[in-house]
Amino acid sequence: MAPTKVTKICCIGAGYVGGPTCAVIALKCPHITVTIVDLNQSRIDAWNSPDFQLPIFEPGLEDVVRQCRDRNLFFSTDVDKGIRDAELIFVSVNTPTKKTGVGAGSAADLNNVERATRRIAAMSTTSKIVVEKSTVPCRTAESMRTILEANSKPNCRFDILSNPEFLAEGTAIADLYNPDRVLIGSLQTPEGLDACESLKGVYANWVPSEHILTVGLWSSELTKLAANAMLAQRISSINALSAICEATGANIDEVAHAVGTDSRLGPKFLKASVGFGGSCFQKDILNLVYLSESLHLNEVAKYWRGVVDMNEWQKRRFGQKVVKELFGTITGKRIAVLGFAFKADTGDTRESAAITLIRDFQSERALVNVYDPQVPQEQIWQDLQEASPSSSLDTIQKHVTVSPSAISALYKSMNKPAFVFDGRLVFGNTERERLANIGFKVISIGRGDSI
Ligand SMILES: NC(=O)c1ccc[n+]([C@@H]2O[C@H](COP(=O)([O-])OP(=O)(O)OC[C@H]3O[C@@H](n4cnc5c(N)ncnc54)[C@H](O)[C@@H]3O)[C@@H](O)[C@H]2O)c1
Repeated sequence: MAPTKVTKICCIGAGYVGGPTCAVIALKCPHITVTIVDLNQSRIDAWNSPDFQLPIFEPGLEDVVRQCRDRNLFFSTDVDKGIRDAELIFVSVNTPTKKTGVGAGSAADLNNVERATRRIAAMSTTSKIVVEKSTVPCRTAESMRTILEANSKPNCRFDILSNPEFLAEGTAIADLYNPDRVLIGSLQTPEGLDACESLKGVYANWVPSEHILTVGLWSSELTKLAANAMLAQRISSINALSAICEATGANIDEVAHAVGTDSRLGPKFLKASVGFGGSCFQKDILNLVYLSESLHLNEVAKYWRGVVDMNEWQKRRFGQKVVKELFGTITGKRIAVLGFAFKADTGDTRESAAITLIRDFQSERALVNVYDPQVPQEQIWQDLQEASPSSSLDTIQKHVTVSPSAISALYKSMNKPAFVFDGRLVFGNTERERLANIGFKVISIGRGDSI
């Protein structure tokens, strides 16, 4: 039998991955009808909003949705219909770190994947290719296959593929237009290979075939965890070196630049910072830690856990530096925090270093003003409450103010000496000098000198 030429795709999960990925598929494949479904009504309403107030911010995304919505791209809460109509289904639901039960604190919570899989089994009346797009532990595809096969109707076969997503928030659309690689894992059976060809045929509409890598299912699942762990490891390595720079007078930007010119290493992911955040790095490394522990590979588990521990230390260290520089106390002092999302060009606040920092400032009883143009106020309150479960929202709001515009932290109105702490190395030498000329004391991660 020849591989199916896919014309109808459904994506379960309209989040940071499912939304942009399937919107780009719709744009690049006008002959395919793409329906993105989600249980979250308000998220779907936002995707369908007449004024394109989309639920996530991503440069270039609105333009893609404007071109395709209601043409061959649809958003719906009717998950069952989405499943029934599709030939190929992406499962792109969230898989956060488990909070309770076995593996709490490190294993991935696969409840959403299982629910979606059971729904696919229950609703399907025709054969489907089911594509695992969520980041999952190794061998999850096998569990999905078991569930699907145990619950399928006669003449209804399911082929499972793994197709992890490598986009980065903030550059998702550019990453999807021009991916370093698309990875597809399948069983190496004739049926598995045919399903793989079908998905390859979708991406081949815009991705050169040499960028589409096809591997076994388990290799594909493990590659996603491995790639994130290695990227995060580079950040933890450079952050560890930033502490040495501060203690010795070296400059981490100079060190990173010089290290990155080694072609074996390359320049990317060598920017020191207050620590990595986002929904993926920490979760996926912990996932790898859990996998290693389950395999009784304790040294391997310890090795990867070190990457997360270093990140936690870097976040705490930055907060402690602020206290130390402000003469050992920040009680009653006003601190402006510019940026609340985990990085620029996204509104995603999951695991943002800003949350830890503000929580630590609160516990020192500082007064904090937060500004972030992409993050709604309610999200900031929700995150700060989760970070300090023993404080009431009232107490938090006594110490924290969310500012609707870039805070006019004018030097003139600040107590002297006035400080700027740069936790993302956004200021180069010129900006540092300009701030110093105004009278600011500038303190940057990874720099032993302070102007
Ligand atoms: N965010 C990233 O940068 C990124 C990058 C690569 C991979 N991933 C992985 O992709 C997956 C999705 O991540 P995300 O950031 O898009 O998550 P998200 O939380 O933004 O979106 C997931 C969506 O799935 C929906 N959902 C959950 N269970 C459902 C169900 N049973 N039926 C229908 N809808 C359901 C939720 O309502 C939510 O809107 C995760 O496994 C993540 O690790 C994320």
